[in-house]
Amino acid sequence: MGYRTAVIGAGRIANSHLSGVRAIPEFALVAIADVNEERARELGQTDRLNCYADYREMIREEKPDAAIIALPHYLHREAAVFCAEHGCHLMIEKPMAISLNECDEISAAVRRSGVMAMVGHTQHYMAANRTARELVRNGSLGKLVMINDTRHGDYFSADRPDWFFRKELAGGGRMMNLGSHSIDRIQWITDRSINKVKASLTFYGNRGDVEGSGLVYSENEEGVPIMISQSGYKGAPRNELELIFTGGMIRVEGGGALSVSRGGSYERVEVDSGELLFARQYADFLEAIRSGREPECSLDYARGVIAVVESIYRSHECGHMIEVPKTAKIL
Ligand SMILES: NC(=O)c1ccc[n+]([C@@H]2O[C@H](COP(=O)([O-])OP(=O)(O)OC[C@H]3O[C@@H](n4cnc5c(N)ncnc54)[C@H](O)[C@@H]3O)[C@@H](O)[C@H]2O)c1
Repeated sequence: MGYRTAVIGAGRIANSHLSGVRAIPEFALVAIADVNEERARELGQTDRLNCYADYREMIREEKPDAAIIALPHYLHREAAVFCAEHGCHLMIEKPMAISLNECDEISAAVRRSGVMAMVGHTQHYMAANRTARELVRNGSLGKLVMINDTRHGDYFSADRPDWFFRKELAGGGRMMNLGSHSIDRIQWITDRSINKVKASLTFYGNRGDVEGSGLVYSENEEGVPIMISQSGYKGAPRNELELIFTGGMIRVEGGGALSVSRGGSYERVEVDSGELLFARQYADFLEAIRSGREPECSLDYARGVIAVVESIYRSHECGHMIEVPKTAKIL
């Protein structure tokens, strides 16, 4: 039998994790927990998983080798610390936690227990982003001069669970939840940290107390300017990252379609999209557990994303440009 794996949280993203784990035979799904036990039962049916309402009881009883934490953001810290203390390798959904202090608590517990842990920043495993990263690395487009990252889509839709709209439970709104994807893809594709931000947020959502939009001017460690524009209000959905170089441009749309210009119009570049991105994520997790090497999205890296998000909130509050606390090296 492979690494016995348990899932904590049977919500909207849980099924993607189940599919990812199933694709890697070295993992064996054994159990699932959700306070809504009915949901756990429904989701656990296919794999005949043992179902629990209390994740602590599941971890104590099942003693899994690995735990997947797919819970509301405010619960990432307590579940990660508990599972690490019980010897489980950890796949923690993004964002790592809702503050740098909480990230540090998780890292300390992981270090003490000697388990492997990573955060599921899915942008790393998207084929278009991986090819974009290679293009940036090979330098054929010249010098990077600016980046625009734009993502719009209705954040306040009725089907989004309530906890997403409470700052104390979600750590923030649009920027914490989806801005973190933008921050991740910008930093990871370019291999450079964002180290300054000036942000302006709005709070016009019809639910809760979190921001519904954010416009962020930022600079990376080499002074390259980056605009992040996120709107969660009604309008035409858009999800586009554009990297502009002296010798051309790269565009990633919807997380899937990659285009490159070397002068003139964009031309579509085919990417290998055959493999499930969650399967790639679990292949990375497996390799990290087996070899002891850091996963592509280590805790230090994921902490760096939270450092930027926290700085965005601080910048909005004080109205100034903020230096992002020093973050770990991008892998
Ligand atoms: N990587 C991605 O692209 C992506 C996409 C969606 C969600 N996410 C992340 O996944 C995580 C979960 O998001 P979601 O959309 O599935 O949320 P969700 O609200 O649909 O699911 C959370 C589940 O946790 C359960 N839960 C709450 N408290 C619990 C507790 N104490 N013990 C056990 N279960 C408990 C809830 O009943 C719910 O079923 C979040 O961190 C979110 O940001 C990531």
